[in-house]
Amino acid sequence: MEKISEIQKICLRRAIVFPTAEIYGGISGFFDYGEIGKKIKDKIIAELKKFFKEENFIEIEGSIILPKEVFKASGHLDSFVDPIVKCKNCNSYFRADHLIEEKLKIKVEGKSIEEIDRIIKENKIKCPNCNSELENVKEFNLMFKLTVGAENEAYLRPETAQNIFIDFKRIYFGYGAKLPFAIMQVGYSFRNEISPRQFLIRLRAFTQFEIEMFFDPKNENCPIEKYLDVELPILTREAQRKNSEEIKWIKVRELLENKIIKSKWQAYFLAKEFIFFTQVLKIDKNKLRFRHVLEEETPFYSAGNFDLEYYFDDFGWKEIVGNAYRTDYDLKVHMQHSKEDLKVENIIAHVAEPSFGIDRIFLALLNEHFKIDRKYFAFPYKLAPYYVAVFPLVSNKEEIVKKAREVYEMLRKEFFDDVIYDEGFIGKLYAKADEIGIPLCITIDYQTLNDNSVTIRFRDTKEQIRVSISELINKIKEIIFSN
Ligand code: ATP
Ligand code: GLY
Repeated sequence: MEKISEIQKICLRRAIVFPTAEIYGGISGFFDYGEIGKKIKDKIIAELKKFFKEENFIEIEGSIILPKEVFKASGHLDSFVDPIVKCKNCNSYFRADHLIEEKLKIKVEGKSIEEIDRIIKENKIKCPNCNSELENVKEFNLMFKLTVGAENEAYLRPETAQNIFIDFKRIYFGYGAKLPFAIMQVGYSFRNEISPRQFLIRLRAFTQFEIEMFFDPKNENCPIEKYLDVELPILTREAQRKNSEEIKWIKVRELLENKIIKSKWQAYFLAKEFIFFTQVLKIDKNKLRFRHVLEEETPFYSAGNFDLEYYFDDFGWKEIVGNAYRTDYDLKVHMQHSKEDLKVENIIAHVAEPSFGIDRIFLALLNEHFKIDRKYFAFPYKLAPYYVAVFPLVSNKEEIVKKAREVYEMLRKEFFDDVIYDEGFIGKLYAKADEIGIPLCITIDYQTLNDNSVTIRFRDTKEQIRVSISELINKIKEIIFSN
């Protein structure tokens, strides 16, 4: 846990991300983002939008509270459950499937409550806290229940996707859409996880970026050609059944021909995700894999799931993006329950969905780019919380400080809050800037007063170059945006 605990220390010290209600001891599963964390998170979202949002993608912002009827129809009220078990002695609750996975190293996702209960009893699994006996395994619904007004039952959404399905018709007609087209949304989702843990991996409130691509399954009309030769790292179902971790690099063409992926749109998103994570977030391709989710653990609404997993040094492989082929499941059930006709162009559209978990992606970015020897984040320049820091070489020389403020004001007009100003001992300023991953430091020194030139110091190499103030903006743009 060496790397993650170093990362957490910096996150706390620099108020990047820290426990909610910290002064009251926190509330498990909730974290607040400070400016640095929020800016990185926003930049991840902005890059995702730039990369994925095409002309026929429509963005919405829906309510986080939805009436009971929505989740009765979607199946979440009956099926969005985890198996939990309580200790007879200390009353702690645990995810029963996680207990088994940890103790017996076998996967039990998708098994019935009775089977999970039997495995716990047969293997005499005890409470990890106090080693006492456990009660019977029960189902636990992960949704947060609310009362709206005096007595109306409602829920916090457990995925952003449901707004999209219930808004489908309004958006289709309101924007004159034609199949295929996508509706996307970024926002909070809420799940009452039994045991939140592993920092930002298992939260009770987290940000999702979801795209629902609506299409005709007989004529997908998907621009897949340009991605057919992209090779993807796949953890196949066969490998998982043999308890093997062997990753196969398989071309998108082959995955479609062999019907491992059943929709071109799903293949399209998988290919784009791989390119996004390796090229934009600059994640090592060997630390990514698409796990073909086994039939028995595929969500109730899906005809096939691929989890994009990232290898965290201290936690192992964790899902960061869920990809589901939701077919016509959601529109169909909402049609049945609402009695609204959600057919368009004479069909019930099918849906391919990538569901990006922004907090896990944020943590993956931190993990990937943290340099443990120098304890700093070598973020890709575009994703750094600030592009530039401006410092006077000394803070007790009025002309130098004045000039540094002038340079800062000039850069702020161009780069707004992607530039910061600070004063102090220059070595410490550089170290503080490096720590949070600022790629460039501009220093105003004695020479600046003579020839209007400043130094640019590079975070990764500590190398410095001299640039005239009149060329500074262009130089910064050239460095940041070409990297
Ligand atoms: P897991 O199996 O790890 O619980 P999941 O299968 O429940 O994940 P999905 O339902 O596929 O996850 O959700 C889509 C994405 O939302 C995930 O890939 C993840 O990035 C994010 N996500 C889901 N649950 C959480 C959570 N409790 N905390 C943080 N992010 C989450
Ligand atoms: N929308 C998919 C999920 O949150 O699981």
